Amino acid sequence: MLRRFIITGVFGYFLLFMVLLLLMGFRWNRYRKTPDQPIDFSHQIHAGKLNLDCLFCHETADDSYFAGVPTVQKCMDCHINVKTDSPKVQKIHKYWNEKQPIPWNRVHRIRQRNYVYFTHERHVKAEEAKVNNPNHVLGKPGIACEACHGEVKAMDHMRAFSSLKMGWCVECHRANEAPTDCLTCHR
Ligand code: HEC
Ligand code: HEC
Ligand code: HEC
Ligand code: HEC
Ligand code: HEC
Repeated sequence: MLRRFIITGVFGYFLLFMVLLLLMGFRWNRYRKTPDQPIDFSHQIHAGKLNLDCLFCHETADDSYFAGVPTVQKCMDCHINVKTDSPKVQKIHKYWNEKQPIPWNRVHRIRQRNYVYFTHERHVKAEEAKVNNPNHVLGKPGIACEACHGEVKAMDHMRAFSSLKMGWCVECHRANEAPTDCLTCHR
């Protein structure tokens, strides 16, 4: 009797532990994909409804490794007048007045970044990309942001669309006759 009691007890705890682990894993995963941001910025409003060009804010995406995020100044160009009664916009003013950058949380990061060579420029300006990209926004040959980042114009909150894993890179390279030897990305 006592033994059965102990066994079910131990089993119960074990089960509870597993369920907790699962829940934590789930939450962690979700957090990784859509981190909380200091300001509730929406691509759906700015890139979708207002139809602003991606490069208007991510200025270096076509000539650098990094796409970059806009400065507070860029937000203020409009929000010095626009929606100033909104508490969300007042947060921008607060960073502006304190001369602090907005501490955006990164959504995309190649996990083993130090071992991988990746540059936006080469992709955004790709010469002979045969990638099917009806959404291409830059008016020249190249891979659309959407091919790697998904339908950003419809995203209220930015989330990771691609895994950024090696298989993802190599699969697209293969499909587009881009180089796939190891030294292309590991140098
Ligand atoms: C080209 C002008 C422009 C720029 C640049 C701009 N915004 Fe906006 N933003 C707007 C307009 C216009 C709206 C209102 C759109 C609507 O309500 O339909 C808006 C709405 C918002 C809202 C929602 C406000 C509310 O309470 O409804 C937030 C938050 C916001 N912007 C943050 C930012 C941030 C952060 C930046 C800089 C990274 C930025 N915006 C850059 C024009 C701009
Ligand atoms: C008004 C300025 C603005 C415009 C226009 C804009 N973005 Fe952004 N973008 C931001 C800001 C601010 C962030 C950081 C906050 C966030 O992640 O939501 C960001 C984040 C991102 C990220 C995630 C960065 C990371 O941390 O991994 C991607 C990807 C991105 N934008 C792609 C795009 C694409 C594609 C377009 C065009 C369809 C676009 N953006 C248009 C301001 C802008
Ligand atoms: C070939 C795929 C690909 C294309 C095309 C692409 N990106 Fe990215 N993007 C990535 C990867 C991979 C990362 C993560 C890089 C890292 O970990 O440093 C990233 C990261 C980002 C980031 C956050 C880090 C940074 O570089 O500032 C932003 C913002 C971003 N991309 C915006 C854009 C915009 C805007 C475009 C189109 C002009 C675009 N991307 C086109 C694959 C791509
Ligand atoms: C959507 C398709 C696509 C994805 C995803 C993609 N690439 Fe590429 N990549 C290309 C194409 C196409 C080229 C060739 C561009 C050209 O020749 O102008 C290229 C070129 C490159 C080059 C330059 C190759 C050279 O000639 O030296 C590097 C480096 C590279 N990619 C790294 C990466 C890495 C790392 C990833 C993943 C994190 C990645 N790419 C994901 C399509 C892609
Ligand atoms: C088109 C780009 C690309 C090419 C080509 C490529 N890799 Fe990778 N590789 C990556 C990326 C991106 C990562 C990081 C994955 C991550 O962080 O999740 C990676 C990670 C790795 C890792 C770390 C383990 C892992 O899977 O995370 C090893 C080992 C590796 N690559 C070996 C190779 C070898 C060997 C070749 C040649 C046969 C090669 N790679 C070709 C992009 C590439």
